[in-house]
This record gives sequence, C-alpha cells and structure tokens, in this order.
Amino acid sequence: MSPEIRTIGDDDLRDWIAALATGFLRPAEASDEDIAFRKADYDPERTWGAYDGGRCVATFRSFAQELTVVGGAVVPADAVSAVTVLPTHRRRGLLSRIMANDLRAAKERGDVVASLIAAEYPIYGRFGFGPASWTTSWRIDTARAALDPRHAAPESGGRIDLATPEEVREFGPGLHDRFRVQVPGAVSRNHWWWQRDTGAVRLSGDAAGERHHAVYRSPTGEIEGLASYSYEARWEAKRPENTAHVHRLIATSPAAERALWQYLCSIDWVRHVTTGYRAPDDLLPDFLGDPRAAAVDEHSDYLWLRPLDVPRLLEARTYPVAATLVLEVEDRAGLAGGRFLLDASPAGTSCTPTTRSAELTLDVSELGALCLGDAAAGRLAALGRIQEERPGALATADALLRTARRPWCPDLF
Ligand SMILES: CC(C)(COP(=O)(O)OP(=O)(O)OC[C@H]1O[C@@H](n2cnc3c(N)ncnc32)[C@H](O)[C@@H]1OP(=O)(O)O)[C@@H](O)C(=O)NCCC(=O)NCCS
Repeated sequence: MSPEIRTIGDDDLRDWIAALATGFLRPAEASDEDIAFRKADYDPERTWGAYDGGRCVATFRSFAQELTVVGGAVVPADAVSAVTVLPTHRRRGLLSRIMANDLRAAKERGDVVASLIAAEYPIYGRFGFGPASWTTSWRIDTARAALDPRHAAPESGGRIDLATPEEVREFGPGLHDRFRVQVPGAVSRNHWWWQRDTGAVRLSGDAAGERHHAVYRSPTGEIEGLASYSYEARWEAKRPENTAHVHRLIATSPAAERALWQYLCSIDWVRHVTTGYRAPDDLLPDFLGDPRAAAVDEHSDYLWLRPLDVPRLLEARTYPVAATLVLEVEDRAGLAGGRFLLDASPAGTSCTPTTRSAELTLDVSELGALCLGDAAAGRLAALGRIQEERPGALATADALLRTARRPWCPDLF
C-alpha cells in the first residue's frame, strides 16, 4: 500500500521532527524545546507528513512569506521548507505528491509565487521552480585588505556599538522591514525567526557558541545596519589567526554597510573574516583597499521561485523602460500557464491574458529565473531553454526585466 499523505497534528510532531532530522543526516533526537518551538511557529494546516505503517517517512512544510520584487513591492509567497524523504522511501514519488498538494493549496489561497532554497540543483525544476537569485560568500584576509590600520570609528560620522540579543530583538524587526523593501529577493522574518536567530531558542542541530551583534547608527542616530558574528579562536606561533564568521549583515545605506565591514575587518586578533551568503554583486570586495583580499569561497544558485499567478507577479514589479511583450508560459502542473500581454512602462504596468501571437515561449520555471531580473533572456535562449518567436523579443525582455543590482535573498529557510 502506498504511504498516506496528510497534514500533521501536535501528537505527530516528535516523530515528524525525528524524520526531518534523519532526512537531513542529523541526529534524530527531538528535544522538548524543539517540539514547543515547532508547535508555536508551524502552521499545522501546512505541515505535511507521509506515513507508512504509522511511521513518518517524509516531511514538508510551507509558511506565509512576503517576497520583495523589483521596485520594492512585496508579494505573498508560499515558502517551502523542511523537505525530506527517508532513504528507505526515496524515488517513489512522495515529494511529488506532497508538492502537488501544497502548490495547489497555495494557488487557491492566492499566493503569487512559491519560494525555496534548493539543497541540490536538480530537485525542483520539474515542479516549476527556477533559480531567481544567486549568492557568493567570501573569505577575507584582513592583513591584505589594505584598510587604514588606525581606523577607530566610521568615516561617515556615524557610530558602531555592540548590542545585546534582547536589544536586537527590539530594533531588529524594524530595521529588517526597512532593509528588505530595498532588496528584491529579500523575504520577511517572523517573531520566531528572531527568537531563534538571537539564541532565545536553541534547537537540536543549531550551532552553539556566542553570537555578537554590532549595530550602526547614522550621524543623526538612525539605526541603519546590523552585523551578527561569532569568533573561531586560533593562535599559531604566538600569532593571532582568529576568524570572525559573519552570520548576517544587513544595512539600509551604503555608509552603514561600509562601516560594518570596516569594523569587522579591523577587530584586533581577527585575521580572517568569512562573510556568509551575500549578493553576488555585493559592495564588500570594493570597500577594501585591495578587493582581492576577499577570496570567493562559494558561488551558487540560491533562492528558487515558482510563479503561481503570472499577471500579479509581473504587475507587482517595476520596469525601467516602456515596452510590450507577449509571453507564452507553459506549466505542466496547470497552475499558472497561459499567454499574457505584459504592457510595461515606468509609470505603470498591466499584464493580462491575450490572444495575440506569442513573442517568447518559456516554461514557468524559466519565468521564475527571470522575474527578479537576475537571469538574462538572451542567455536562456542560447541554452535552448526559452524560444524567441518574434525577432527582437529577447532584447525587449532583457531591457524590461534586468536590473542594475542583482537580487539577493539573505536568509536560509
Ligand atoms: C530530495 C528528496 C526530498 C526527493 O524525494 P523523493 O520522494 O525521492 O522525490 P520523488 O520520488 O517525488 O522524485 C520526483 C522526481 O525527481 C527526481 N529527484 C528527486 N530528488 C532528486 C535529487 N536529489 N536529484 C536528482 N533528481 C531527483 C526523481 O528522480 C524523480 O524523477 P522522475 O520523475 O524522472 O522519476 C529526497 O531525496 C531527500 O530527502 N533528499 C535528502 C534531503 C534533501 O535534499 N531535501 C531537500 C531539501 S531543499
């Protein structure tokens, strides 16, 4: 008999968490704190399990998220997370069945896209997701950074102070709300995200160790940036070789961003700074006197998007030029496909079903990759992933969709 797929109740949580941990190759013990946290944070209507003989063999959850699109508007997203199938039950279609249920529910709810961070590249394209943003992380050799060794305070006239986790929980959400509307690809964080990220709640598998928080205030006293980091101690031949690992750094102004990196790169005893997942075109390397002091550690696809409502997705964002484009969007799941006329201008946009001839034909997953401006239509066509039906349509798509700065999702979910 094939496993039963259903949403879970409170009594299922311990087994469900154990299955999740096993799927992610982690110890399967669920603490009482894990269970209490998930009870508080998770939506039982959107937390799925597959059950075989009463035993949880697959996990999946989704939650309500706001995603910032180009221009700063936010759209409701179905954020997918905690996706696992036990190794004993893999490749029998369990993920496919649960995903179909969740995406259908998201569509009915009126979500504009589904979002996720893919553990492995080949998993999600088949479900209509495409890589919408990329990430780069760097490792900085502070001795080569060529920053002023006498540096004591931000050149902007602002200031940096250390903050306690309690203080971060107070001002962090407001700062993040101001930050995320400036960054296409950024996503909302809820109360529980802040509790966990500042160590008020620690789940099994969360990194131990102390987090430090540095806050930047502008010359007029506005909080404009926050860096959260931890230290890894190492001395060699009586020389400090310590590393500062940056877990998060968000800022609402370039001055705050520059001041926080300068601060992190000038802490006595710190010889190395790891940046965590930044935008691929992050300003960071160029803040350094020698940008090559920041060596690329990782470079990869990051946020994947699955359009669920093409007109609302394309109407929510802004466009730098006035142009029209007819898109034939193919969606084998039958959720978001159709032919749409995008009529865009900096003054306003409409996107409506049309009977005009298609100018570009593409799978819904390719629209996911294009919609935040990161992928280039011309490049996708060269790869044979989208088809130009009218000469010039690729150039029009790129003029409309691409952006000066690349989208960035700072969070893992
Ligand atoms: C990824 C995972 C959830 C897939 O679950 P599953 O139930 O085996 O997936 P399905 O059987 O529904 O697979 C559907 C299709 O996707 C393919 N697929 C699934 N996972 C894949 C992977 N990791 N790599 C390549 N292809 C994959 C299957 O081969 C199948 O292809 P087919 O339709 O051509 O036969 C499972 O392998 C797993 O738990 N992996 C470890 C944890 C993980 O990576 N989770 C994702 C976190 S974002």
